[in-house]
Amino acid sequence: MPAPLSSTKLLKLPIHKLRQGMFIEQFEDGNSKLNITNSGQIRHSSMLEKLKKHKIKYAWVNVERSAPDCGLHPTQDDTDSKLEIKPNEPQFKQRNAKQRQLLRAQQQTETKTLLSEAKGLVRKVLSETFEGKAIELTEFENMADKMIRSALTDIDAFKCVAALRTKDAYLLEHSINVAFLLVTFGNYMKLPAETIKEMAVGGLLHDIGKIHVDDTILNKPGKLSPEEYDIIKQHQFHAIDIVENIPNFSQISKDVCLMHHEKLDGKGYPKGLCGDQLPQHGRMSCIVDIYDALTATRCYKEAMSPASAFKILLSLTPFHLDKDLVYEFIRCIGVYPTGSLVELSDGRVGIVWDSLDRDVLHPVVKCFYSAKLNRYVEIEYVDLLEQDTLNIERGVSPRSLNVDPNPFY
Ligand SMILES: [Fe+2]
Repeated sequence: MPAPLSSTKLLKLPIHKLRQGMFIEQFEDGNSKLNITNSGQIRHSSMLEKLKKHKIKYAWVNVERSAPDCGLHPTQDDTDSKLEIKPNEPQFKQRNAKQRQLLRAQQQTETKTLLSEAKGLVRKVLSETFEGKAIELTEFENMADKMIRSALTDIDAFKCVAALRTKDAYLLEHSINVAFLLVTFGNYMKLPAETIKEMAVGGLLHDIGKIHVDDTILNKPGKLSPEEYDIIKQHQFHAIDIVENIPNFSQISKDVCLMHHEKLDGKGYPKGLCGDQLPQHGRMSCIVDIYDALTATRCYKEAMSPASAFKILLSLTPFHLDKDLVYEFIRCIGVYPTGSLVELSDGRVGIVWDSLDRDVLHPVVKCFYSAKLNRYVEIEYVDLLEQDTLNIERGVSPRSLNVDPNPFY
């Protein structure tokens, strides 16, 4: 049976190692990958026989979606044997790295659960506010607390999940991402926990005014006419009314909601505030809001790489954005942020996985694809600190890959 893998989600297995209960995503005949229209679980042994007859050599198995008893999940024995390792044993370093991967996988799963919980919460509040119901703040405060705890437990897992792009409605995804980014940025700036919490609450609700803007304009592919742009701007005037009616809404949360389109030169909206009228958290919300919009994939544009987005942020200083804070934000996110895709000098592509206590050019990269071969490769965690000949060649946008990187997060 294959070795239990706890931190990888897709596993390439030769056909003779497939078992009932495994969930197949894709087949390979040895040269190229073959897409299957109906991915699914192996329910009968007759299916295995059929695959052999069709000369299929390998299958990509989704570990998480496979049955618990198919041999891919760690057993109690595996866990027990890991606990017996002593620091002076020769395999300690290797096993220790595996344990780190296991812990990371657990944290990643927990953060993803948090992400979907946050989406449920924002989805609910968007529809309830549209129906005229009052916003209940406690749920958002609890969510912000959980986000901060998650960021403090494992910032790499937090950043990685925040970088994961799904196909949810843009407004929903953008609201969550802005909150995640404000927690990351606030944490980096060493702001008080209470301030970060209030910023996160503000982030989750920052575009609440858009519920009163026509969807066809909000999601219009292509350039907006001046009239349409004026209609979009109205979301911030709607927001003024909405946030005034949220009981116990803190000033900081309110500022995040109402200041993220203001500009330092006073030419922003809704109030045209300028200079000192914009506090630090308000200025941070402007940066985060633009960065997330630039790095998001929309129906009419590709996601921009973090490096390209940083250039645009800098071009908006000092008249629109605070220059010092933009530099802090760039340092906080990094040129190759955790969760972003990079291509290594050997052509392998992977997710920047682990950057804690490392310089920006030497993270651990979770490789899963080859740009040279145009196909998935064995998943490998490449530690660039331990590689003399390998380095990051460039950042890669998800769309340029032709495959979906999401299962590897
Ligand atoms: Fe907005």
